Formats: sequence, structure tokens, C-alpha cells
Amino acid sequence: MNIILLGPPGAGKGTQAARLQAERGMVQLSTGDMLRAAVAKETPVGLQAKAVMDAGELVSDAIVSALIGEHLDCIGDRGAIFDGYPRTQAQAEALDLLLAERGRHLDHVIELVVDEDELVRRICGRFTCANCGAPYHDEFKRPKVDGVCDVCGSTEFKRRPDDNEATVRTRMAEYRAKTAPILPYYQQRNLVRPVDGMAPVNEVAASIDAILDS
Ligand code: AP5
Repeated sequence: MNIILLGPPGAGKGTQAARLQAERGMVQLSTGDMLRAAVAKETPVGLQAKAVMDAGELVSDAIVSALIGEHLDCIGDRGAIFDGYPRTQAQAEALDLLLAERGRHLDHVIELVVDEDELVRRICGRFTCANCGAPYHDEFKRPKVDGVCDVCGSTEFKRRPDDNEATVRTRMAEYRAKTAPILPYYQQRNLVRPVDGMAPVNEVAASIDAILDS
């Protein structure tokens, strides 16, 4: 099974993709994570992408589609969860080609339907353990002992440079202008499954599971 998780920044794509990967043996393919890894390693792609990401704008279609192609070649016959890709019409068309070349097809496009003001709160409060990557939130999920990671005991935490209100608003605007308009491309193929992304995480998970098991 190959699925897309579609929704604006902070809609919960990464949260649900990581869960599906852990529970179903599918593979999370997050272009955001791939790009952040490239930035951290200072690869040519990373050097090109950093300023664009810090501004909350979209990296070029050619770069992200090439990254997805490379990763698709490494996942064997496991299902793919596309997290944050595609984000433009050109990427949606590129994905169809990448899948067809590998004898795959899309099963569902899960649209996480959310309220934008709530998303700013979600995003601006999140942080992760700098050592193991465990996710936390200033309001919704603080470490049990302040300043100490519940999972590995590290005392180092980090926040994404693009998780500030001004950049989040730009990322939302990019979503409205370039990503939301690809929904009809999938609606006409009857692939879009809307899910209430404002519900608690476990309820969102149950709605997605019901779709995948239907
Ligand atoms: P990317 O990393 O993809 O970021 P994004 O789409 O902005 O999404 P986020 O990771 O911010 O949010 P999410 O939906 O995964 O939510 P999460 O689960 O973390 O992209 C970053 C940048 O890379 C882009 O701006 C662009 O520059 C570039 N890029 C990436 N892909 C690209 C592409 N295809 N083309 C061009 N450029 C690209 O949840 C957020 C928070 O909410 C967390 O704290 C979480 O715990 C919490 N939460 C989640 N669900 C719930 C819930 N149901 N209730 C309460 N809290 C919840």
C-alpha cells in the first residue's frame, strides 16, 4: 500500500507517518526530514535548500522528486507513506511517474483537515531531544522531569529554525497557494480521504487505520 499524508504545516503528518511506520512496517518518506539531513551534512542539496527552508518557502520540484526517487529505490516491497510530498502539481505528476516506473500505485491520499490558528500554536511549541529525537511540546507534552528527556535522559533539546510564527505563516501561505490546489488532481481519481486533524492524536490514528483497513 502506498499513501500520501496531505495537510498544512503542523497538521500531524509526521506524527501519523511515524506511527504507521512503527505499527505497520510501512516506510515514512518525509522530504522535510530528507532535506534537514542534507542541511545538517552540508551536502550540495543541503547548502542549496537551507535558506529556502529557513524562509518557509518550497525547495525546487526537481530536488525533492529526485530525493523521493532515491529513497523509493531503497524500500524493497514495503509500502510507502509520503509525508510532505507532493506539494505542487509538478511533484504530483512526478510522483505518478516514479511510482509507475517501479510498478507501484497510490491507494489513498489522506487529507488532514485542520484549523490554521491552532496549527501555529502546535508548531511554535514543539521541540525534540537533541540526542534521540523524541518529540515534546511546551503545552501538550513536556518531559516528565523538566529539562530531561524521558527516553534517553539527555538534557539537550532543539527546535527547528523554521518553527517561528512569521515563518509558519509563510509555510501556511505556500500550502494554500501551491499544495491545496493539487487536491482536485486526486479527487478526480477518487483517492482523497478527509480526516479531522483537530481530533486528539489517537482519534486521528483510528480514523486513518479505518481507511487503511477498509
Ligand atoms: P516539513 O518538514 O515537511 O514540514 P511541514 O509540512 O511544514 O510539516 P511539519 O513537520 O511542520 O508538520 P507535520 O504536519 O508533520 O506535523 P507534526 O506531526 O510534526 O517541511 C519543512 C520545509 O522543507 C518546507 O517548509 C520546505 O521548505 C521544505 N520541503 C519539504 N518538503 C518539500 C517538498 N515536497 N517540496 C518543496 N519543499 C519541501 O505535528 C506538529 C505538532 O503538533 C507536534 O508537536 C505534534 O506533537 C502535535 N500534534 C500532531 N497531531 C496532533 C493532534 N492531533 N492534536 C494535538 N497535537 C498534535
